[in-house]
Amino acid sequence: METIRTPSIMKQTSRRLQMQGRSVGLVPTMGALHEGHLFLVKRARMDNDIVVVSIFVNPTQFGPNEDYEKYPRETDNDIEKLIKAGADILFAPDVQSVYPEGFSTSIEVGGITKKLCGLFRPVHFSGVATIVNKLFNMVTPNRAYFGQKDFQQTRVIETMIADLNMNVEFIRCATVRESDGLAMSSRNRFLSPEGRAAATTIYKTLSSAAEQVKAGVPPPEITEHMNEALRAEPLVEVVQYAGVYDPLTLDEKKASGGSSLLAIAAIIENTRLIDNIVIEV
Ligand code: PAJ
Repeated sequence: METIRTPSIMKQTSRRLQMQGRSVGLVPTMGALHEGHLFLVKRARMDNDIVVVSIFVNPTQFGPNEDYEKYPRETDNDIEKLIKAGADILFAPDVQSVYPEGFSTSIEVGGITKKLCGLFRPVHFSGVATIVNKLFNMVTPNRAYFGQKDFQQTRVIETMIADLNMNVEFIRCATVRESDGLAMSSRNRFLSPEGRAAATTIYKTLSSAAEQVKAGVPPPEITEHMNEALRAEPLVEVVQYAGVYDPLTLDEKKASGGSSLLAIAAIIENTRLIDNIVIEV
């Protein structure tokens, strides 16, 4: 596996490979890789001649009181995992080369970015859309892979690709979970053993809500049950949102039927955890 740290070299390399007729798949990440990330890499491996994984802890998507400084950085470990998963290129630029002095452009996707996580992280999705757009320009991938774990992020990127006529095929991959159902996340390591045990309540709550959706229980009732179940766990400090939403608009659903997004954002031991399930009835 080759490591590239300079955006212009990344661009030249991609261009050269594509001129030879080889397809390029990109998996954007912030590192501290786990099986969820590696699942995307393996999927990209199946579809493309060349797999590029980017690792960049993007400062513009963290709010002022968020965990940018303490976000885990462990490139040596990540490199080993990427070699095993079959990546061809690690693209790991530094902050200076991505955001040189004078950088002043941002991408703002409207509507859906103001809901769910956007209500609590007002700058987050503009930071995500901007960096993903930049990564697309630096890597020029044929396909790009994102996890359903961050469902709203996938909707924002899908919308950006469509709205801006971008030449990238978007691929959403299923959420990878621990054996007890907790969605894998680079942030899970911040939890104590007690917090880690309490965090299983998130997936349990989603799973029982999914059963209620299938049974035709009205969404407002399901939302109430979800909030009650989460509040019953003493280590859940804050429930930012929990409920039944329309997967396209991300608005709360009032009536049963059709597709439902069950989504939760909760804080346990100062760590913000999100998870979701999509149900088609
Ligand atoms: P990061 O949190 O590192 O996640 C990178 C990719 O891995 C995202 O598409 C995310 O949805 C996916 N992922 C994370 N946990 C997963 C899991 N348990 N199962 C399946 N996929 C999972 O998301 C970001 O980084 C950043 O916002 C980024 C898109 C890289 C832009 O900076």
